[in-house]
Amino acid sequence: MRRRVLATALPAALLLMWIPSTLAHGAAPAAARLAGYWKFDAGSGTTAADSSGHGRPLTLQGGASWTAGVVGPHALAVSPQEAAVAGGPVVDTTASFTVSAWVDPASTGGYQTFVSQDGTQVSGFYLQLRGDTGRFAFTRLAYDSTAAYGAVATSVIVPQPGVWYQLAGVYDATAQTMSLYVDGALQQTVHALAPWSAPGPFAVGRGFYAGSPADWVSGAIDDVRAYDRALTARDIAALAGTGSITVHENEADPALNPTQFGAFLEEINHSGDGGVYAELVRNRDLKESSSPPVSWSAVQGGGASAAIALDGTQPLTSANPESLRLSVRSMPAGGRAGIANDGYWGIPVTPATTYHLSFYAKAGAGFTGPLTASVESSNGRVWATAAIPALTAGWARYTAVLATAKAIPATLGNRLVIATSDTAVAGSSAWFTFVSLFPPTYAGAPNGLRTDLMQKIAALHPGYLRVPGGNYMEGNTLATYFNWKNTVGPVEDRPGHFDSAWGYWSQDGMGLLEYLEMAQQLGAQPLLAVFAGYTLNHTVVPQDQLAPYVQDALDEIQYAIGPVTSKWGALRAADGHPAPFGLHYVEVGNEDQFDTSGSYNAYRFPMFYDAIRAAYPQLKIIATTSVTSRTPDVIDDHYYSNDPSVIAGDAHNYDGTSRSGPKHIVGEYAVTQGSPTGTLAGALGDAAFLTGLERDADVVIGASYAPLLVNVNAQSWPTNLIGYNGLASYGSPSYYAQRMLGDSLGDRIAPAQIAGGNGNLWAVASTKGGTTYLTVVNRGTSAATVSVDLAGVSAVSGGTATVLAGDPAATNSIARPAAVVPSTQRVAAAGASFRHTFPPSSLTVLSLSTR
Ligand code: AHR
Repeated sequence: MRRRVLATALPAALLLMWIPSTLAHGAAPAAARLAGYWKFDAGSGTTAADSSGHGRPLTLQGGASWTAGVVGPHALAVSPQEAAVAGGPVVDTTASFTVSAWVDPASTGGYQTFVSQDGTQVSGFYLQLRGDTGRFAFTRLAYDSTAAYGAVATSVIVPQPGVWYQLAGVYDATAQTMSLYVDGALQQTVHALAPWSAPGPFAVGRGFYAGSPADWVSGAIDDVRAYDRALTARDIAALAGTGSITVHENEADPALNPTQFGAFLEEINHSGDGGVYAELVRNRDLKESSSPPVSWSAVQGGGASAAIALDGTQPLTSANPESLRLSVRSMPAGGRAGIANDGYWGIPVTPATTYHLSFYAKAGAGFTGPLTASVESSNGRVWATAAIPALTAGWARYTAVLATAKAIPATLGNRLVIATSDTAVAGSSAWFTFVSLFPPTYAGAPNGLRTDLMQKIAALHPGYLRVPGGNYMEGNTLATYFNWKNTVGPVEDRPGHFDSAWGYWSQDGMGLLEYLEMAQQLGAQPLLAVFAGYTLNHTVVPQDQLAPYVQDALDEIQYAIGPVTSKWGALRAADGHPAPFGLHYVEVGNEDQFDTSGSYNAYRFPMFYDAIRAAYPQLKIIATTSVTSRTPDVIDDHYYSNDPSVIAGDAHNYDGTSRSGPKHIVGEYAVTQGSPTGTLAGALGDAAFLTGLERDADVVIGASYAPLLVNVNAQSWPTNLIGYNGLASYGSPSYYAQRMLGDSLGDRIAPAQIAGGNGNLWAVASTKGGTTYLTVVNRGTSAATVSVDLAGVSAVSGGTATVLAGDPAATNSIARPAAVVPSTQRVAAAGASFRHTFPPSSLTVLSLSTR
């Protein structure tokens, strides 16, 4: 019937290309050069959005509609006279380009062109099914005329109706070749004809011939892409999804642990003070510096003259003898003198918020006062204020409530002021200490925790909270380790200590009780690390001096879980927590592989192990490195690397671990790429690692990212999970990755096998009561469309796909907290086997209802 003069040109030019069966890591960046990308996933309306970022939507014409997709939920459905057409050209047909599409022809009769771009008389190219051969072809005519002869790269396969195929046509202007691929396999390469420019619209569902639309398609078309370069065979194979992920639902595999994903907290990056510990006043114990006192200043307004100084001669408690002396030199009428604290890089103020102020003060002769407490902006705008009655001559505690109005902005650069305008105070002094200002705390707990940070941590659903560190727990010296007995009781009686590991003062308001309570508030079990006689400067407590440290650890455990009739259980009750905590794991030391003296294996671990085992046989004891002198229940392994590939590569570390020896926990891990919080590339490395740990749940009982928190003004460590200042907080891409993994934990692992794909896939699957969770990390820069095969179920009745994807270098920040966050879409019902595209640089969780 038709008409074209088509030279099946130049057969001598058939070029065979090798397609690797297993693709290596690091596929070419196909996504970077997309000229147009139409997923056809809208499912309604007359516009198919362009996901390439070039803003080239297609308009559905002639009644073109939607049907079930092969990649994503929907596809374009067309019959003759129906197509989806762009407003203009998409590719330069004189230069290299590639077009690809998934096609499902309803019939294989006649010419049907799936993708084309109009010239004035004919299309500049046709990705089509040919009427003369009944095969797929990538066709170009020699010039813009029906009289032109053509070059045709033809498929070997003979298409069947009602079957999805992935077609790709590649024009390589440099090599002067045209290639056709079907389902990722090269069909034919032919010499290309002299290129000519097709200036008309890009069209899906038709071609153009004799100056009119032609070659109408009957069937479905999905996931159409156009690139302004010639894709490689590897790129095409990845696009076509030559791989599969098979989930063996019917094979019993390990049960997941309640501790599978945990959290680890220590005083680093101002994680506690100036972090999750909600206290807004910095240096309330006045020990952070000798002089001048950090964060404190004198208030001298309206001509008043005053000075502040540290004074150790008026001790409130023996643990905290320092106080802040305010000396008022002169006070004219209308003047103001007092003390001010500017918090941890500003005191945050939010609308309609109630703050609880408390402080200790004593008045010198003549300092009668009334005082006014206020939270003020740096230019003196008062956000909230409260009156304090006259001070007494002896130390007394004063409290007040400061409430802000509804109609104020949220601001950070504020200070707390306690001042007087009483002219009678001229020439007199007053002393202050333990000035404290708390905003509303998480769950309203006294001496409590910052709400937004706790909400973010709670959303991770940590099964355990490893506390109190890390290097912080060990300290640099025997004078500066986390000596828990100094961190309990009333805060005024806690001496605080220098956090020598991270170089700043820790006032220990966040002490042992608060760490344990934090775990409880999070619904996590505490994982308590006890000091084991080794400090970061390689001080090793000799064997004959270690017994008191062992006793301290036993006392510490008793404080956590002993009955209220026990000595330390009674102290816990006196501190406000009579009920024992749900402690199951105790870790002896931290990273003791750095103790090269051998003392850990020789006597330190054995002494702690024997004492804890004897006193608390129900507890599981964790060693921080391999030991042979005793058999620990669990070994804590730590992983850090600035190379995501290294951490991802560690995903298989436990595949061969003995199942009869100690279990393992990964108490710290992170790709240290990105600052102060990590990049998406790092998150994908972390997530890939976690798929392996989850898969090996029978030997790996848990994992926790480190460090958890960073105040962006006080970074001690390069890459962290959650960033914040006084007012705002955000999660890193790794934070969202961990949330996604934690939210998709079934009861049991279902073995998942990856075959092919783009060579950059990691996967784990688990099941729970009719739901299959399939987590897939695609660390490649090309999309991977693979067949997902659920062995052991008959069908998928629906579900969701949650995807974290984007620029691998992207990260979140205070200014852009949601630059990289997951999004969730519905997944349509499907059979037990379906195709799914995992986007470049992505983490996907498929949550599938199965039957
Ligand atoms: O997470 C930061 C530090 O890294 C921890 O304190 C220490 O255990 C590890 O070396």
